[in-house]
Amino acid sequence: MNGQSSSRRLISLGSVSVAFAILSLFVMFAGAQPSSRELAGQWGPYQDPEPAPKAETPEQARTAIRRLQMRAISAHYRSIEATLLFQVHASLAADADALARSAENLPQLFEPKSPSSGKSGARAEIWDEPQLFGEHLAGFRTATLDLAAVAGGNDRTVAAKALAAVRYQCLACHFHYRRIEGRPGAESRRER
Ligand code: HEC
Repeated sequence: MNGQSSSRRLISLGSVSVAFAILSLFVMFAGAQPSSRELAGQWGPYQDPEPAPKAETPEQARTAIRRLQMRAISAHYRSIEATLLFQVHASLAADADALARSAENLPQLFEPKSPSSGKSGARAEIWDEPQLFGEHLAGFRTATLDLAAVAGGNDRTVAAKALAAVRYQCLACHFHYRRIEGRPGAESRRER
């Protein structure tokens, strides 16, 4: 790439940031509901494959953010799993730190009370059993901190073991507190 084209590239990246900043301001000030949108520009109309969620109440907003966070958590988890599987450790520590940070933040995503009204999502028991649910949050947090502590090392077996402990916490919490349509126990919760 010659000097001229790289400076043109810098300019166009600059315009992208400006356009994005204007769009964010518009969304903030108009209190608009961002959804799939078309951006006029050199790329032509742009349809976001995963549009921003809509929310009309604090509960819906919290649920939407909670689900996005869970997908982020899942992506970090899968990324760590893949780095171990393919033995490419490039992002292991960064993913593990992000996971631990998300786990620390998780309790906030369950306030205010916001059980799912649909066939999938957060069960009401989360708010009926704060102590038990709190134990799951704490268990997840400890497991992610343990993983972050070993992720910088070179021992793949140790990291894989810590990752399995994190996975256990995901599944334990989901088993009790997340309803998944079509899965056993989706309608009624198992007896304790
Ligand atoms: C302390 C409880 C808890 C832990 C720990 C937990 N989850 Fe969740 N997860 C939930 C609940 C509750 C929901 C349902 C949220 C809703 O729909 O409001 C959920 C939803 C999800 C979803 C669906 C998101 C969507 O778009 O609907 C994914 C994916 C997910 N979790 C992955 C994970 C993974 C991977 C881990 C572990 C690395 C994990 N979760 C740990 C409670 C937990």
